[in-house]
Amino acid sequence: MELQKPRGTRDFLFEEMRKRKYVEGTLRRIFELYGYQEIKTPLFEDLSLFTLKSGEGITEQIYHFQDKGGRDLALRPELTAPVARLYLNQLQKAPKPLKMYYFGSCFRYERPQAGRFRQFWQMGCELIGGKSPDAEGEVIALAAHCLEELGLEDFEIHIGNLGIIRGILNQAEVSSPEQTQIMAIIDKGEVEELMKFLEDMTMENSYKNMLRELIGLQGHREVLEQVEEMVMNNSQAIGALQELEGLLEVLDSVGFSNYIVNLGIARGLDYYSGTVFEIYVHGLGAQKQISGGGTYNLIEIFGGEKVESTGFAFGFDRVMEALHQQGTYLPLDKVVEVFVAPVSPEVKLKSFQIARKLREAGIPTETDLAGKKFKKLLSHANNLKVNYVVLVGARDLEQGQVTVKDMDSGQQELVALEDVVDVLTERTRG
Ligand code: HAM
Repeated sequence: MELQKPRGTRDFLFEEMRKRKYVEGTLRRIFELYGYQEIKTPLFEDLSLFTLKSGEGITEQIYHFQDKGGRDLALRPELTAPVARLYLNQLQKAPKPLKMYYFGSCFRYERPQAGRFRQFWQMGCELIGGKSPDAEGEVIALAAHCLEELGLEDFEIHIGNLGIIRGILNQAEVSSPEQTQIMAIIDKGEVEELMKFLEDMTMENSYKNMLRELIGLQGHREVLEQVEEMVMNNSQAIGALQELEGLLEVLDSVGFSNYIVNLGIARGLDYYSGTVFEIYVHGLGAQKQISGGGTYNLIEIFGGEKVESTGFAFGFDRVMEALHQQGTYLPLDKVVEVFVAPVSPEVKLKSFQIARKLREAGIPTETDLAGKKFKKLLSHANNLKVNYVVLVGARDLEQGQVTVKDMDSGQQELVALEDVVDVLTERTRG
């Protein structure tokens, strides 16, 4: 029997892990530049945390199980609900706005395909207690800053506000469950399916046409004028439009004007209440959405006070895929820089000592652990792509010396034992 990993999961090997760690580190650094602090929540939570208000799409995809005590638990499909729970448990009295970020895996039972996995990683943040549109503006600017810092090109940030479509649905007296269904269809981008769904509803045609037109609206600021004309008599929609306008102003002020207003964004999760945004990299095809977020009222839904919250999460695997596809250069450190090679078995312990000293000085170092013959050791060091080999020979040692070989130039020099750390620190760090 050949053992296989579960469908929709992946193993990551050395080179890929180094790239992922670099990207993770860069994202962490940018989140922290904006004052976010990292938190960690459990991989599994009570199932009800996600069924309450995460939306049908997500709840259908949840991995859930009963533990030995009969509790209904779920592997987290996302992290906003766990962070809202954590806030209610421990942070309600903390000074606001509260800025938290996280990096961790999520699980969704869906049909695996390129960019869509059953275990995937999210790097995201939640800003609790900020006010629209300033908080939203900073959050979106942060997302863009992250991608710019990684050197990703060709990404598009699409921004909308759910209050516009919700305003129309409310005016047309569409029930809340039907609104949820409509938002889910809009999220899938299925215009025909939406029209079919609306056909069976007793709604004035003018509303149906308005919805159809609105979800297709995309462009720069000028889109707002078109919307204004359409929703002039709808106070909820006008309020949302003004919010959107304020947000774009904030973004323009920080020099980020490369956004696309898109009123067809509905988001697959049910807790969003106003501003929403998604980031696309079109080269990724069907799984082009590398990030999504917006303003939500989950804390209130969970029984807390009304506190405005905004956040987003990068689909980390999709960010990696986009970087690979665009051939973005990722500056990776060397794995091992120095190999300490004992020329003969009797200097083995001395080699261990030298390796230890180099490691203490912060230089990634390897030495022989497989009892290889000297010639094989050199080709092993070559395979490791080290910059330097320290040749430890009995005769050199008698003179208190070792030979340092530069693997690029092939040059060798004798170095006093007590200087070897300084010399290699200078060479590798200087
Ligand atoms: P989401 O859009 O469901 O939002 O997921 C965020 C990102 O995770 C997506 O944009 C996508 O890149 C990635 N993603 C989702 N499903 C998969 C999958 N099966 N395989 C690979 N990547 C995937 C949320 O989860 C919200 N909690 C974001 C948020 C934070 N909203 C407010 N705060």
